[in-house]
Amino acid sequence: MAEALIKIGDTKSGQYEALLQQLILLIGEEKNAVANLANVAAGLKEYFGYFWVGFYLVEQNELVLGPFQGPIACSRITYGRGVCGAAWEQNESLLVPNVDEFPGHIACSSLSKSEVVIPLRKNNSIIGVLDVDSDKLNDFDEVDVQYLEKLCAWLGTIL
Ligand code: SME
Repeated sequence: MAEALIKIGDTKSGQYEALLQQLILLIGEEKNAVANLANVAAGLKEYFGYFWVGFYLVEQNELVLGPFQGPIACSRITYGRGVCGAAWEQNESLLVPNVDEFPGHIACSSLSKSEVVIPLRKNNSIIGVLDVDSDKLNDFDEVDVQYLEKLCAWLGTIL
């Protein structure tokens, strides 16, 4: 197993492609969901240096904190609440350039300024969300959404 991820490519899309290939190799035949979500969170944090990267997993009518990298975070998020709960309710990815302008944003850390949340689906139903937060305003764009959706689509096939 490689000891560290290698950042390859001049463009963000190329870098995401290279990251995805390395994560697929790293995870290999591993079937354990916690191990795989933990390595994906760590991989994204290490590779792009985001402020906080992690998963919230559906449990009844709440999202419960799963594997993550970054500062401590809220353990539970109600359906429809915050960016994570809204992405779950709306069944779509949400890109938030300025979290202070998102009604009901849950500020686990006041340092978080922008974020992107992607639904994690298995067999077409949402089993959780991927939450990626930045300490910079407007730090994400459609390229991030596109590749994080691709990453979650792959994760949905191995969980
Ligand atoms: N950003 C989230 C809360 C989770 S933390 O930021 C880790 C939200 O408003 O849904």
